[in-house]
Amino acid sequence: MSISLKNVNKIYKIGDVETYALRNVSLEIKEGEFLVILGPSGSDKSTLLNVISGLDTPTSGEIRFNDEIISNYNSKELTKFRRDNLGFIFQQYNLLQNLNVRDNVEIGACVGKAPFNIDEILQKIGMEAEKNKYPYQLSGGQQQRVSIARSVAKNPDILFCDEPTGALMK
Ligand SMILES: Nc1ncnc2c1ncn2[C@@H]1O[C@H](COP(=O)(O)OP(=O)(O)OP(=O)(O)O)[C@@H](O)[C@H]1O
Ligand SMILES: [Mg+2]
Repeated sequence: MSISLKNVNKIYKIGDVETYALRNVSLEIKEGEFLVILGPSGSDKSTLLNVISGLDTPTSGEIRFNDEIISNYNSKELTKFRRDNLGFIFQQYNLLQNLNVRDNVEIGACVGKAPFNIDEILQKIGMEAEKNKYPYQLSGGQQQRVSIARSVAKNPDILFCDEPTGALMK
């Protein structure tokens, strides 16, 4: 699977205020590549990730996954595309507060076509003993590890990670 962006622009509009976030971004990501986006706070990293991954739409420009031009998709088509192909680790963990650790990870696994074993993942991230706890009972780093496990569980073709280790020591 390869990804390409051509002349992608993103302008946030709130009332009369316009924030020009992405300006003519073109890039290509090839199968097997591991790409890191670095920059100071407010330099549009999350915006770029959200737009590439179809969580948000560009104001103009083209985003292509193999032969599929996802920048033309409507929100229903985008949702299906994300569910079938992508994993996303959010900067804000977005755990479901009324589900325990194991159920949060299971939610991720159950939208995948070839998901990983949930208990093996919990063991890998060192959260087996915490599996019955709820997000509010966890430390920041523990919540982040659960959020990583949830995204990895579905075994996605591509994993987008927005500062996935900001709260981890190792
Ligand atoms: N939904 C939004 N509406 C309006 N402006 C936004 C929105 N999201 C982001 N911005 C603006 O776009 C710019 C880039 O924000 P973004 O979140 O992409 O930065 P970032 O590089 O991920 O920063 P950080 O390292 O702090 O996470 C900022 O000026 C921000 O104020
Ligand atoms: Mg960010």
